Amino acid sequence: MLSFEDSTPNLGLQTAGSVAAMPKTAAPADEVLTTGAGESFRRIRVEDKRIINSPTDVNQLVPFKYKWAWEKYLAGCANHWMPQEINMSRDIAQWKDPNGLTPDERRIITRNLGFFVTADSLAANNIVLGTYRHITAPECRQYLLRQAFEEAIHTHAYQYIVESLGLDESEVFNAYHEVPSIRDKDEFLVPFIDAIMDQNFTTGTPEADQTLLKSLIVFACLMEGLFFYVGFTQILALGRQNKMTGAAEQYQYILRDESMHCNFGIDLINQIKLENPHLWTATFREEIKQLFLKAVELEYRYAEDTMPRGVLGLNAPMFKGYLRFIANRRAQQIGIDQLFEGEENPFPWMSEMIDLKKEKNFFETRVTEYQTGGALSWD
Ligand SMILES: [Fe+2]
Ligand SMILES: [Fe+2]
Repeated sequence: MLSFEDSTPNLGLQTAGSVAAMPKTAAPADEVLTTGAGESFRRIRVEDKRIINSPTDVNQLVPFKYKWAWEKYLAGCANHWMPQEINMSRDIAQWKDPNGLTPDERRIITRNLGFFVTADSLAANNIVLGTYRHITAPECRQYLLRQAFEEAIHTHAYQYIVESLGLDESEVFNAYHEVPSIRDKDEFLVPFIDAIMDQNFTTGTPEADQTLLKSLIVFACLMEGLFFYVGFTQILALGRQNKMTGAAEQYQYILRDESMHCNFGIDLINQIKLENPHLWTATFREEIKQLFLKAVELEYRYAEDTMPRGVLGLNAPMFKGYLRFIANRRAQQIGIDQLFEGEENPFPWMSEMIDLKKEKNFFETRVTEYQTGGALSWD
């Protein structure tokens, strides 16, 4: 068997996928192949694949084990879109017209962009420099590659809106340092991203695997699954009132992508739990619950900061219920007990927005055209 273990210094890198990490157990005779050097190796068996700490070669996409990941990869590709394909001329006219938007509506837009212009860069870095190397199922890695590109498209979309409206770029791009309600959300996230981006971090012990799992939960359930929702709701509420419809259309595509990212993350988390039940201890669950409560508090503070008064038929207290409703849903999706009693969704129209199929004529723009070139059916 090929092995470079003795001669390769430990660089602190994940070794799954290297030849050294291939299975060493004896294989049935019909599965044993002989290399040119006379060494034998075993072909990959589906049952040997694992989401983390897999002994199998990450370079071999098939045989598929996690079909949900491959299907999400295909669905992500079918939903492809680019920001510059969306016409922003109405938004530009509205933004430049002194009577086009109220000061409170303008505040929502600048705060929103202030959060999102850097949030999706954080998301991309987390995937590329953190999550990707710790995930050992190649079909999940394939989805992560697609997701990373979608995060780049989102950053592009926010930049495109900032540029189209002629906003003060340094103000918008520095908001995550300068606006406390935005900075606090990012400061909450960063330690979980840093933990898995650390080049010395590797999985393989219960403590390290819990660190990764916690980071995945924070990223999927609390960042993509909660911290984006005040902003998405606000911009889509503008669109529903025929304001900033270009930006709203971009946000609608982003929301569709993000809800798939969130669902992929939840599938990933649940599969890791299934394969590693020892990680899901009562102490760990309690820690997760506290993180959920903290995230709800931070996102609520962001709602208060962005809506000092009622605007667009929305106000901050309505979001208290909405955030609790979403947090309950995310908790339930990963098997954490309900966090808040009896919360209803005050914005049922948001659920319809997530399911874009029902909304194809909503902004009367490109949604239908897109799908003529894509693989999804919109009917
Ligand atoms: Fe994104
Ligand atoms: Fe995302």
